[in-house]
Amino acid sequence: MLNVTVFVSGGGTNLQAVIDAVAAGTVTNVRIAGVISNKKDAYALERAKKAGIKGIYLSPREFDSKEAFCGRLLETLEQLQTDLIVLAGCLMIIPGEVVDRYRNRIINIHPSLIPSFCGAGFYGLKVHEEALRRGVKVTGATVHFVDEGTDTGPIIFQKAVEVCQGDTPESLQRRVMEQAEWILLPKAIDGIANGKIQVIDGIVRVTE
Ligand code: GRF
Repeated sequence: MLNVTVFVSGGGTNLQAVIDAVAAGTVTNVRIAGVISNKKDAYALERAKKAGIKGIYLSPREFDSKEAFCGRLLETLEQLQTDLIVLAGCLMIIPGEVVDRYRNRIINIHPSLIPSFCGAGFYGLKVHEEALRRGVKVTGATVHFVDEGTDTGPIIFQKAVEVCQGDTPESLQRRVMEQAEWILLPKAIDGIANGKIQVIDGIVRVTE
């Protein structure tokens, strides 16, 4: 059984997709051990509560130093017996010590086809605003392992989504969530939980 701790910052629709997939049995061998949010009022915490999952508010703002925050975060992850960290709409920088401790055991869902429209400053609606500004006809989502960089770790899955005439950033975001994010994230978690995903020389290998 893979203990998964989900990091959130906002509405939690990706968290909900994971909760629903575990409940439906399309994700197996997984237990969501807890949800950690750096925003006290994140609706994602409400979703966790409704699902009977422990929700924890933990923000660097509440600590005197980065070290103190990092120490508490690592303690909390251990208390939850975390095997895999899932960043689901998480806007918090993950401390390097956590990335080191959970090497290739942290995944993130990003709302574009990396390496397009990613890196510092590319999050949430900003990603879709830039895609529309550039005029791309296809965008999508990427789920990847997290390393020291921003959106730079080994890519696990990607899924393309069509950009439609007249799209707004909001309509495009919704389609990317529905057609890509909410599918890829549970699929990646299930793959990891069932030993189907390995990282070999920085490249992800998926076995069916
Ligand atoms: C959305 O922009 C989504 O594309 C990205 O994070 C934001 C919030 O997602 N992954 P969520 O609804 O909080 O999961």
